[in-house]
Amino acid sequence: MTPPTPVGHGRTVIVGPVRYAELCSAGRALLVEHGFTLVENERSTPWTADDLAPLLPIADASVCGVEVFDEAALAAAPKLKIISRLGVGLDNIDLAAARARGIDVVNAPGGNAIAVAELALGLLLSVYRQIPIMNAGIRTGAWDRFVGSEIGGKTIGLIGFGAISRILAQRLKGFDVDLVAYDPYADQAVADELGVRLVSLEEAVSNVDVVSVHAPHVPETHHLVNADLIASMRPGTVLLNTSRGGLVDQAALVDALESGHLAGAGLDVFEVEPVGPDNPLLAFPNVVATTHAAADSLEAYHRIGLSTAQAIVDVFSGRTPRSLAN
Ligand SMILES: NC(=O)c1ccc[n+]([C@@H]2O[C@H](COP(=O)([O-])OP(=O)(O)OC[C@H]3O[C@@H](n4cnc5c(N)ncnc54)[C@H](O)[C@@H]3O)[C@@H](O)[C@H]2O)c1
Repeated sequence: MTPPTPVGHGRTVIVGPVRYAELCSAGRALLVEHGFTLVENERSTPWTADDLAPLLPIADASVCGVEVFDEAALAAAPKLKIISRLGVGLDNIDLAAARARGIDVVNAPGGNAIAVAELALGLLLSVYRQIPIMNAGIRTGAWDRFVGSEIGGKTIGLIGFGAISRILAQRLKGFDVDLVAYDPYADQAVADELGVRLVSLEEAVSNVDVVSVHAPHVPETHHLVNADLIASMRPGTVLLNTSRGGLVDQAALVDALESGHLAGAGLDVFEVEPVGPDNPLLAFPNVVATTHAAADSLEAYHRIGLSTAQAIVDVFSGRTPRSLAN
C-alpha cells in the first residue's frame, strides 16, 4: 500500500476536545499518518482562552471542541488554515472573521445525529416512566412503582426538521406515533417519506403530547419556546430539548412546570452550563436532566473524529473539505 502523502509534515494541529486520543483514535491516526504534529488537550476540561493563547501562534489547524475562536483568537493565529469542529454547533466560532482571514471552518453535520436522537428518545422514556426516580429509589431500599404513559399513540411535535429530527422521526415511527414538524426550510420530500406533516410553529406545539426541540440557536430562535408558546401547548405536554439551552426560556419553563401546565421535561441543554445544583429545574421530579451529553456515543466520536481529521488532510492537500461552514 502506498503510504499517505506527508501533507502534514512540519505542521501543527492543536486539539482542544478532551479524551481525543481515546475517543477519536482513528481520526488521530489519520493525522499522524499524514505527518501532522498534534498538541492535544490532556486535561479533563475544555481549554479556556488562557490555555489556548500560547498555542494559537503555532497552530496550522485546529480540531476544535467548545473552545472559543473569536476575532481576538483568530488574530493571534496567523498560520491557521482550518478549524475543524468536532461536532455540529458553531456558536463558539466567529465564522465571518474566520472567512475574512481565509480560514476554513468545517463541521460534521449529521455525524452525531443518531446519538442525539437516541438520547432524546431516552429522555422521553425516562420522563414518561420515571425511570431515574425508580433507579435512585431502589438503591435506597425503596420499592416505589409509578404509573406512567406510553409513547405509542401519541402525537409528537418536532421543532426543526434537520438531521437529528429526521432520525428521531424515523425511530419514533416504530413506536406508532403521529408526527408533525415545524421547520421554515424543511424538505417536503423527506417529510413525506417519513410520514411527517409539516405545519406552522403553533400547530407543531399546540395539539401534541410531546414537543421536541432540534433547531439551531441563532438570534431568531433565541427563546423560541417562551411563555406564550408554552401557554399554547396542551396541558400535560412534555417538552424535550436536546438542541441548545437558549432556545427555551428557562424562567417560562419553570413557571409551566410549577403550575403543572407541562407534565415534565427532558433536558440535555441549559441556558447556563454547567448547571449548578441551585438551578430551579432540578427541583422538579418530572424533569430528567443530562449533562449536554446527547452527542457522546462511541460511534459518533469515531465518525466525527474521522471526518474532522479528513477535512484537515483535504485542506493541506489542496482539496475543498466537505461540510465547509463559512
Ligand atoms: N445536545 C447535544 O449534544 C447536541 C449535539 C448536536 C447538535 N445539537 C444541537 O441540535 C441542533 C440540531 O442539530 P442537527 O444536526 O439536526 O442540525 P441540522 O442543521 O441538520 O438541522 C437543524 C434544522 O433546524 C432548522 N431550522 C433553522 N431555523 C429554524 C427555525 N427558526 N425554526 C425551526 N427550525 C429551524 C433548519 O432548517 C434545519 O433543518 C444543532 O443546531 C445543535 O445546536 C446538540
